Amino acid sequence: MIPEALHWALTPAPGWARRTGYLSELIAFRARHRRWRQRWAPHLQASQDAIRIAMARCTSHRQALVLGSGPLLDIPLADLSAAFETVTLVDAAHLWPTRLTARRFPNIRLVERDISGVVPGLLEGVAHGSDILPRPRPKLPEDHATVDFVVSANLLSQLAVLPLQFMSHHVSLTPAEQTGVIHSMVQAHLDYLKQFDAICCLITDTRHEFVDRDGAVENFDNCLPGIILPPDDSSWWWDVAPPGEYLPEFGVRARVVAITQRPAGSGL
Ligand SMILES: C[S@@+](CC[C@H](N)C(=O)[O-])C[C@H]1O[C@@H](n2cnc3c(N)ncnc32)[C@H](O)[C@@H]1O
Repeated sequence: MIPEALHWALTPAPGWARRTGYLSELIAFRARHRRWRQRWAPHLQASQDAIRIAMARCTSHRQALVLGSGPLLDIPLADLSAAFETVTLVDAAHLWPTRLTARRFPNIRLVERDISGVVPGLLEGVAHGSDILPRPRPKLPEDHATVDFVVSANLLSQLAVLPLQFMSHHVSLTPAEQTGVIHSMVQAHLDYLKQFDAICCLITDTRHEFVDRDGAVENFDNCLPGIILPPDDSSWWWDVAPPGEYLPEFGVRARVVAITQRPAGSGL
């Protein structure tokens, strides 16, 4: 097992992903999975099943685009590789185990990109003293016309986490401003997905519940404030962490939904 610091040093990652904490968080996410492998298994299986069901609706199989591919825990990679001419995995960075897995498939491409489009505003604005909150500007890939299937893989609720953490070192935001940042980043991603003329499978957590040792819900967080999602195809609980991982007395569980969206006017 490679220690986390060595992962950080050895992973070929863009400078922005190091400076803004994306690489560290990706490594930490993989380490959390190693600790809670059994707890997470039903969630990861449900995510993979949802992707398989959504991809079966595709009538054309040129390119599958996976946004937030991370350590690929929730991605049925072999099925995607077999079904599509090209599979593009997009994340801030790709760790070595992911790179080695991807090499087993001839048609998998790895792309390192800021999916939210907010990082330039952080590094060129906020870090230099600007108090203007950066606007999310996600960019369509140049070959977007060849994309027949898009997966947004347990990414949506995470989009604003690191940008808010980065901003907290440079500007002071009120709770309402923080909620505004989350809302605008989440909405920008949902609008972005609609720009693809493709079947889209959105998997996201929507609500976090803090549960005591007897299973009683003590408190909850809405992960997507002010956002109304389309109806889901399936939903389940993700047992994220037991008491002691984030909070001494409370465990965390997340409500997760899978939503398949068809391109507007497709009749599918
Ligand atoms: C909760 S993890 C899920 C990872 C993967 N779907 C899995 O379950 O193995 C969220 C992923 O989104 C990526 N991510 C979050 N914000 C991003 C951004 N702005 N640009 C690129 N990747 C981002 C993280 O690096 C991380 O890999």
